[in-house]
Amino acid sequence: MTSTASGQSSGPPDSGLARLDVRGISKRFGAVRAIRHADMTVRAGQVHALVGENGAGKSTLIKIISGAESADSGSIEFEGAPVAITSTVEAMALGIATVYQEPQLFAELTVSENIFTGREMRKGVRVDWAAQNAKVVELLQLLGLPGRYATVTLGSLSIAEQQQVSIAKALAGNAKILILDEPSAILTDAEIEVLFGVVRRLTDSGVAVIYISHRLDELFRIAHEVTVMRDGSTIGTYPIEKLTVRQIAELMVGGILNDERGERAIPDAPARLVLQDLGVAGKFHSVNVSVRPGEIVALYGLVGSGVSEIAATIYGMDRATAGKILLGGKAIAPRSPREAQKLGIALLPANRKLEGMFSFQPIAFNISAGHLPLLSKFGGWMDRGRERTIAKDLITRLAVKTPSEKQFIGAMSGGNAQKVVLARQLVERPEVLVLAEPTQGVDVGAKEEIHRIITELAEAGSAVLVVTSDLAEALRISDRLLVVRGGTTTAEFGPDATQVDVLAAAAGAAEPGESDAESRAADAEPRAADAEPRAADAEQRAADAEQRAADTELPAAGVVATGTGIVPAETGRSAE
Ligand SMILES: Nc1ncnc2c1ncn2[C@@H]1O[C@H](COP(=O)(O)OP(=O)(O)OP(=O)(O)O)[C@@H](O)[C@H]1O
Ligand SMILES: [Mg+2]
Repeated sequence: MTSTASGQSSGPPDSGLARLDVRGISKRFGAVRAIRHADMTVRAGQVHALVGENGAGKSTLIKIISGAESADSGSIEFEGAPVAITSTVEAMALGIATVYQEPQLFAELTVSENIFTGREMRKGVRVDWAAQNAKVVELLQLLGLPGRYATVTLGSLSIAEQQQVSIAKALAGNAKILILDEPSAILTDAEIEVLFGVVRRLTDSGVAVIYISHRLDELFRIAHEVTVMRDGSTIGTYPIEKLTVRQIAELMVGGILNDERGERAIPDAPARLVLQDLGVAGKFHSVNVSVRPGEIVALYGLVGSGVSEIAATIYGMDRATAGKILLGGKAIAPRSPREAQKLGIALLPANRKLEGMFSFQPIAFNISAGHLPLLSKFGGWMDRGRERTIAKDLITRLAVKTPSEKQFIGAMSGGNAQKVVLARQLVERPEVLVLAEPTQGVDVGAKEEIHRIITELAEAGSAVLVVTSDLAEALRISDRLLVVRGGTTTAEFGPDATQVDVLAAAAGAAEPGESDAESRAADAEPRAADAEPRAADAEQRAADAEQRAADTELPAAGVVATGTGIVPAETGRSAE
């Protein structure tokens, strides 16, 4: 690690000088005032965080800076001189490199083709494949990816790797400002470490970084300053160390947050969804989970723990090789998400930007998709009136920011689009609801709203399983929390579990000879009176392991730190 947010001494000579100065920007899309008034100064060698609720105008502001949209008013200065950025090509020529919130890559092309399409390196009129390849390998290595990925098709990489390729693409020019629009929303903790390593290297060499994120806690590790947007306006820029997570969240929503959570009474009924000794060879084994009607159970685990593979198996994306999935006491073996849904499991898949939505369809369609029986009348005709009513109702309940239910989902802000995909599951109250990373990329206000809706569904009798790598979320929403580690469920906690307890159980720290705290944490009594200091101890070791991983100069992709040492993660598996 080369520098920290507060230690800027190692920066280049011009570190801290204004590189980009944005004044009085405004932007309308028809009736929507996406930006009312935005001011922001971005400095060389620093990470400038940009935060705000879904729809606050963050992506629009960076699209204006990167030339993808034009402002209605305002001015931009680049290195002290006024500039008119009227296209992305002009922005790139200035050294403004952007990784957009929606991936803009092609799954069928190779990594190298994705990086250079439209701006091939040439020798005379010919594409200089050798030079291009060498540059790609260099970029991949900078990002901790193997050089051989250059010739692999993008679609065969994991989502995290694809996102790193977007960054490589942005860096292929000579970047002076790198804009990252929610790069971490789809990344695991270990992948975020790699990303931060890259960001630190870039700022050390003088690059200014604009970093949009809804994961407020991570900003304290990477950002120097933070600009908060609310309702289309920047309401202030602050040195990050002057604020707490809570204060930032309160600036974003313009009020006081209430995250109190009461203990709920779960009706005593037989389990609706049971995973019985479930396993998929090579991925996870002996997983036992049961969810009763009215209950919210969280499955929490670090990357490589097998937790996301368990969700994939319930979704029918993977076939179980051992054990059973029981739905209402009956064994099921779905072969696709569609089949799982037909069998009665409502699903909210992770990575829903790619899997869950129909970008070129209106919101109403996106909500009603999958509910045709409910919405058809007279033997098959779609009841458009009813579709509209239901869509409008859900738009209100989820506080989706949109002028109309006729809006195309592709034109919505990322978090708002996500709410629409969730809304689709709420049209009919499902008996069983399985959600994977339900609030990834969603702002604090929307997160609260989504958590409230999930709780309401449970209160109305749904059995809910939430698979998440967001510990705060797991703790906040669940009646019971199961920790997945080393491919199996290892510990169970009630609603009064603390973050330290759970982290300790999840991270394990199971090095030979020091497994005491770990085995206790993983034992059936994780909250014994003496477990607290030991758990804290284990957590420290987990943090140390993570730190080691971060300190290792950009670990190769697919390798993550866990408490048990460095193990291969499930990334890039299909690349071989
Ligand atoms: N092309 C467009 N057409 C119409 N409205 C748009 C368009 N792009 C953005 N908007 C609207 O402008 C507002 C600001 O959107 P923006 O994408 O900038 O929000 P954001 O802060 O990035 O939110 P998120 O955190 O959800 O990504 C939203 O109300 C959005 O629906
Ligand atoms: Mg956005």
